[in-house]
Amino acid sequence: MNAENKTSPTVSTARYVNVVKHPLVQELLTSLRDYETPSSLFRGHALRLSRYVIYEAMSELGTRAVGVETPIGPAKGTALTDYVIFAPVLRAGLVLSQAAQELYPTARVYHVGLRRDEQTLQAITYYAKLPDALPAESRVFVLDPMLATGGSAVAAISLFDELKVGAIHLVSFVAAPEGIKRVHDHFPAVQITTAAVDDGLNEYAYIVPGLGDAGDRIFGT
Ligand code: PRP
Ligand code: URA
Repeated sequence: MNAENKTSPTVSTARYVNVVKHPLVQELLTSLRDYETPSSLFRGHALRLSRYVIYEAMSELGTRAVGVETPIGPAKGTALTDYVIFAPVLRAGLVLSQAAQELYPTARVYHVGLRRDEQTLQAITYYAKLPDALPAESRVFVLDPMLATGGSAVAAISLFDELKVGAIHLVSFVAAPEGIKRVHDHFPAVQITTAAVDDGLNEYAYIVPGLGDAGDRIFGT
């Protein structure tokens, strides 16, 4: 079986993993994977890709029917009902946050500062300023381009799960089967939207083939 046809042995196409296969998404992801893409281009492509994966993740937003008056007469319309929260995981999630706010300007944004200790692979929380309570109808989109071991995602999701929010989504560019399994072992109802499920992790817990260190490539560090 060649690389193009290889499927992950550990992740089924569960209904809570949505891989966005649109050609525009896949072309952008290919550019991000390319090690020759410089940060100056990487950032722009990451922003464009962000728009598509967030748009897709938001297809689950709650709605209710409303009436509207056009200049010609009455029409049926739609109003959004969820209390939308974006939770970008610093640093790399900032690019997703920028796109998300463009798409949904009235959402609340709660940044979560996490750093993966590269020796222990534990996620270390260095910033999280959440309210004591959130509305039950809150729908939280945790934004992080890379889902590797899943340690960072689980740490970020836990913060909102403790507040008993209505629904939690995780939006990424690339996910490893190990990370998806870890997230769903802890939080089976979390919906993951991603542009790719890759083969796995290497000995440094980097996603293979992945796209390298997302934060470093976005910010040129
Ligand atoms: C990266 C990435 C995720 C995390 C994924 O962040 O953006 O947050 O690693 O790895 P995990 O699934 O094994 O936890 P990093 O800790 O490198 O921080 P940065 O975005 O500030 O570079
Ligand atoms: N963090 C990244 O940015 N890339 C990986 O492949 C794993 C963790």
